[in-house]
Amino acid sequence: MYAELLATILFTSAYALPYPNNSACRELQIPISVSVPRFIINTTVTDDWDAASLTFNLTRRDSATSDDPLPISGLTSNAVESTYQIGATVCGTGGPTLILTHGIIESKLYWRPTLEDSQEYNFVDAAVAVGYSVISYDRIGVGSSSKVNALNDAQFQVETAVLNSLVDYAHTTMNATKVGLVGHSYGSYITVASASQSKVDAVILTGFSGNFSYFGPFVAGAGFRVARMQNSVRWGALDSGYLTSSDLYAETYVYYANPYFERRVAEWSYNVGSEPFALAELPTLLDTTIDYSAITGSVYLLQGQYDVSACGGNCVGLLEDTKALFSGAKAVEAVDNLPAGYAIPE
Ligand SMILES: *[C@@H]1O[C@H](CO)[C@@H](O)[C@H](O)[C@H]1NC(C)=O
Ligand SMILES: *[C@@H]1O[C@H](CO)[C@@H](O)[C@H](O)[C@H]1NC(C)=O
Ligand SMILES: *[C@@H]1O[C@H](CO)[C@@H](O)[C@H](O)[C@H]1NC(C)=O
Ligand SMILES: *[C@@H]1O[C@H](CO)[C@@H](O)[C@H](O)[C@H]1NC(C)=O
Ligand SMILES: *[C@@H]1O[C@H](CO)[C@@H](O)[C@H](O)[C@H]1NC(C)=O
Repeated sequence: MYAELLATILFTSAYALPYPNNSACRELQIPISVSVPRFIINTTVTDDWDAASLTFNLTRRDSATSDDPLPISGLTSNAVESTYQIGATVCGTGGPTLILTHGIIESKLYWRPTLEDSQEYNFVDAAVAVGYSVISYDRIGVGSSSKVNALNDAQFQVETAVLNSLVDYAHTTMNATKVGLVGHSYGSYITVASASQSKVDAVILTGFSGNFSYFGPFVAGAGFRVARMQNSVRWGALDSGYLTSSDLYAETYVYYANPYFERRVAEWSYNVGSEPFALAELPTLLDTTIDYSAITGSVYLLQGQYDVSACGGNCVGLLEDTKALFSGAKAVEAVDNLPAGYAIPE
């Protein structure tokens, strides 16, 4: 149901009438080259003992202070060039275009579930139905995109550069007239970082408060485990720096709020939609300063009220500080009480 709300945003801000409807979606591999410095990560995770240790370090009270520094020892002095294949579901032929970035322990299927009778959770189809073109992609290391190193490649600023290139792709290859970025959770952070560096007309942020004060329960509650050991059939090709949740119920705790979800959706998500994330992603995000004031388009914050990761399980009243971050935005609107947890039914 929220898909319709989200999907009208670029139109209500910029258009009176939807563009012609072209719902044809295709699966593409888009080659993207990036050139940015890399953080030097000074830890490794080889087994679940290490995953437990990492979880402790990322959640202790003084985490990310000098008493418990991030596992980062510096930045390379030069930019590192890489080319990745980005697996994307691409729908439409230009006009107003939305680029969707999924979150941690998710894949692009978050926006377009393959579950039976899941039309009400399908953001991609709802956006296409009202006339948007859509690019929904897997982050590097995830699903249909290139398998990359969990320490040296799957870093926040690299992923931001990938999204910047997809914004260019939308303008040049897709003939986009307006570009809106839509993010969920970690994908919302990539979205704001990209919007502060590239020209976009609107950003729609879900699973996002701009505040890491409430992050501990999510990190601890997910029960991080080494993905290749957890499920060698699905993830045997990933290095041991890729982590996933410990089981269906740990994942349910971080994703959903009772009674606002269907258990079959949680089961599908755990068994099909979820994909591991890389060890370097969280520390490199935490070590990056995002220039929120450089975002000039319209900003829409849409929060499930009971989101654990963004708000510690209750977002009501919490987004006023978040709105204030976007001092250069054309407009900022916030909804803090959608009846949902971290995963918003679309
Ligand atoms: C957690 O921090 C301790 C030092 O406080 C360090 O010895 C350990 O290697 C860290 N664990 C991981 C997985 O980085
Ligand atoms: C990583 O490097 C930083 C900065 O040199 C240091 O403070 C930290 O203790 C190191 N962490 C680990 C796990 O070695
Ligand atoms: C973009 O426009 C060009 C030139 O009009 C056209 O050849 C191309 O097919 C369009 N691309 C898409 C994705 O519609
Ligand atoms: C666009 O196409 C889809 C799929 O054919 C259809 O369900 C939807 O109603 C159409 N939307 C508009 C605005 O015509
Ligand atoms: C983050 O949350 C903490 C704890 O409630 C609060 O003190 C701080 O002002 C918040 N920061 C921002 C940027 O919202």
